[in-house]
Amino acid sequence: MADTSDALVFFGASGDLAYKQIFPALQAMVRRGQLNVPIIGVAKAGWGRDQLVARARDSLAHHGGVDEAAFAKLTALLSYVDGDYGDPATFERLRQELGGAQHPLHYFAIPPSMFEPVAEGLASIGATAQARVVVEKPFGRDLSSAQELNRALRRVFAEEAIFRIDHYLGKEPVENLLFFRFANSFLEPIWNREHVNSIQITMAESCGVEGRGAYYDEAGAIRDVVQNHLLQVTSLITMEPPSAADPDAMRDHKTLALKAMLPLSDRDVVRGQFRGYRNEPGVAPDSQVETFVALRLRVENWRWAGVPVFIRAGKNLPVTTTEVFVQLKRPPRLVFEEDHPGHPNYFRFRLSPDVFLSLGARAKMPGEAMRGEEVELVARHQSPDEMAPYERLLGDAMRGDQRFFAREDAVEAAWRVVDPVLGRATPVYEYEPGTWGPAEADRITPPDGWVTPTPPGIVP
Ligand code: BG6
Repeated sequence: MADTSDALVFFGASGDLAYKQIFPALQAMVRRGQLNVPIIGVAKAGWGRDQLVARARDSLAHHGGVDEAAFAKLTALLSYVDGDYGDPATFERLRQELGGAQHPLHYFAIPPSMFEPVAEGLASIGATAQARVVVEKPFGRDLSSAQELNRALRRVFAEEAIFRIDHYLGKEPVENLLFFRFANSFLEPIWNREHVNSIQITMAESCGVEGRGAYYDEAGAIRDVVQNHLLQVTSLITMEPPSAADPDAMRDHKTLALKAMLPLSDRDVVRGQFRGYRNEPGVAPDSQVETFVALRLRVENWRWAGVPVFIRAGKNLPVTTTEVFVQLKRPPRLVFEEDHPGHPNYFRFRLSPDVFLSLGARAKMPGEAMRGEEVELVARHQSPDEMAPYERLLGDAMRGDQRFFAREDAVEAAWRVVDPVLGRATPVYEYEPGTWGPAEADRITPPDGWVTPTPPGIVP
C-alpha cells in the first residue's frame, strides 16, 4: 500500500497526548503544506466539534503557539465524533465522517487496553483494509502482554500497516546518530570491542512526574523510557551497517542488535525512588516503583562482546539532558610522562535538549613539558526550523514510511531484555531530589566513572 493516507483519525482526542503533542504536530504539518485531508478526532468527552476546536486552540497556546493562518486551515479540516469505544454507534458515526476516504491513518492515542476494541470497531465499519494504524508506547507492560497486544492488532492490521511510535526515533539528533555512524568511513574500523572500552547513556530529567503520577506509578523508569527510548538508542549505536536504506534492512539490523542484548539480571540493576514521590497524586503510599534506574547491559555479539553498556535514567536529577558517551580504549602505552593522563578519547552525542556531537581528544599544553590537556572537537547543529518528533513521525506514517517506527520483533526483543527486572524484582532505594540517584547506584559505574553532562546550552 503505497498511497498517502487520505484521512487522519485520532482516538483519544480529549487526552493528554493529543493536547501536548498531536495538535501542535497537526498545526505544524498544515503550516508546511503537508496535511490537507480530513482530520477526525474521536473521544468520549461529551463534546461537540466546537469544544474540540477550543481544546486545539488551548493546546497550541500552551505548546508552541497558535499560528492563526495555519490554525484556520486546520480547523477547516477538523471534525469530531463523540462516543464510547465499545459502542457500535460511535463507529457508525465515524464511518459517515470518513466519507469516501480509502486509506485512513488511525492514531490510537489511547491506553493499550483499548487497542483491541477500537481495532475491532474499525474493522466492523470496513475502515481497516487499506488503513494504517499508529500506536503509542508503552506497548504492553512486559513481554507477554506485548505479544498479546501484537496478536490482537495483527488480527486486524498487517504488520506493514502498524506504526509503533517511539518519539525518540523522530528526534533529529537520534537520526543523526545513525547518519553519523553510517555516512562516515572513519568510525567503522574503531566501532567495536577492539577500540571501544564502554558506552554510557544518561537520560536525566530535573522534573518530577508532573501530574502523571497515576500513569507513572504503573510504569516506572524501566517501562517508561528504558524499554523503548534508551534501548532503541542503544540499538542504533550497536547495530551492524544496513545494506540499504530501505526500512526493513535497517530494522532487521536494529532487531538483531536488540536480540544480542542479554536479559538483565538483578545484579546489573539498581533502582531508586526520589524522596517525596509517594506523596504525588495518583501514586501509592507504599509504591515500590522506580523513578531512577542505573543498569549494566551486555551486548553479546562478535562486535561488542565484553564492552559494557551503562544506562542511567531518572526523574528529579540535577539536570535535564540525554547524552550518549562512547569511550575508547587508552593508547597501548603512555609515551609522555603525565601524572594524570586524563580521559581516553571519546565520542559524545548530545541528544537533548541541545544538540551536538563531539570527539574528545588530548592535545599538548603550551610549554616545555610534554603535558596534555583534554580538548573536545564539537560539531553543533541546531536549526530553529527543526521538526518536532511527532510532526516528523506522523508525516512518515501518512506516507507509509516505517523506517523510524518500531517493528513487532524489535519491541518484543526489547521487552525480553528488561523482563527479568520489572516490578519488585530488585529493591528500590530512596534518593534526594536533585541528586544523581541513590548511593547504592555506585555499584553500577562505568570503568572511568559516569560523565556528568554539561548543563544545557554549555558546550564542553
Ligand atoms: C516520554 C516519557 O516518553 O519521554 C516521559 O513518558 C519523559 O516520562 C519523556 O519525560 C522525555 O521525552 P523528551 O523528548 O522530553 O526527552
